[in-house]
Amino acid sequence: MILLTGATGYIGSHTWVELLARGYKVVGVDNFSNSNPLVLKRIKSLTQMEPIFHELDVGNPNLLDVFEKYPITAVIHFAALKAVGESVQKPVEYYQNNLLGLLNLLKLCRSHGVHQFVFSSSATVYHPENPVPYQENMRLGSGSPYGWSKVMSEQILRDFEMAYPALKVAYLRYFNPVGAHESGMIGEDPRGIPNNLMPYISQVAVGKRDYLSVYGGDWPTIDGTGVRDYIHVMDLAEGHVVALQYLAEKQQSITVNLGVGQGTSVLQLLSAFEIASGRKIPYRVVDRRAGDIAECYADVTLTHQLLNWKTKRSIDQMCLDAWRWQSKNPNGYES
Ligand code: WQD
Repeated sequence: MILLTGATGYIGSHTWVELLARGYKVVGVDNFSNSNPLVLKRIKSLTQMEPIFHELDVGNPNLLDVFEKYPITAVIHFAALKAVGESVQKPVEYYQNNLLGLLNLLKLCRSHGVHQFVFSSSATVYHPENPVPYQENMRLGSGSPYGWSKVMSEQILRDFEMAYPALKVAYLRYFNPVGAHESGMIGEDPRGIPNNLMPYISQVAVGKRDYLSVYGGDWPTIDGTGVRDYIHVMDLAEGHVVALQYLAEKQQSITVNLGVGQGTSVLQLLSAFEIASGRKIPYRVVDRRAGDIAECYADVTLTHQLLNWKTKRSIDQMCLDAWRWQSKNPNGYES
């Protein structure tokens, strides 16, 4: 049985649907700090299965009950705070939540004989002075407590593997997950004003925001706007299933980038979204955002080699699926 932490979050919920579609048995846990309980109803209507779920925080000792109640054989650990800007304002909350949750989980994995662990890492672990495309063996280091919490989490896991070699870990470094399940029934539903580009653009398209602020038009990039590696959230979900299969078959740990392997600028994404939605997206170029970098995209050579897997969905598909979710749910799950 697979334990999914952060199961009702954006990436967690899409991975949950993919796992159920592939016949896996899953138990999800979440504290709803950045997700909506309505996701559970959507998963049930999407999969025709009653999701097995417990509301709790991974840092809570009650997590033990889940390990005692279900035959957990693998863990996919999504639960973490992940807003870069917020982490600069609240470093203690970020380190406490992201690190203590992991430590609690690992102690239970050891005491209950779990041998497969998939860790939700991030492109923010790569030091910003690295050249693009980022390769897995490049220098680590971050500009934010969030990014450092991911670097430290990877280190905790590597040390844990040394002490408890039965556990094998897939360190999955996500680039920029966007889009939604093709049904439009689950999707990205950020609280308040979206930090990330795609949800902000889709809220402009649906009339919830007046215009997009483009953070900098003078970056050394193809059109002066920031370049990122956007990956469809369903490609990301499929990547998790492939990583789980790799751990089960090879019984070896891996560290791989989950991205498309190419960059897309803010303005390129904006115009793709205008085509997909048929809506004009007004924008204003404003000052750069603190902590941003010009370009960030993945070298996916090692991912392709080790997992024998590639992303399938295009930027246009990402925009079409994001728009279907947003237009069917103008106020996210609340609507
Ligand atoms: C993308 C581009 C912005 C918003 C974040 C997290 C990172 C990871 C992925 C978790 C940049 C520009 C954005 C806006 C804009 N998440 N932008 N106007 O910063 O690459 O990475 O998501 O692991 O930790 O930091 O993503 O979507 O915020 O920005 O111009 O309103 O869009 O400058 O170039 P980012 P993003």
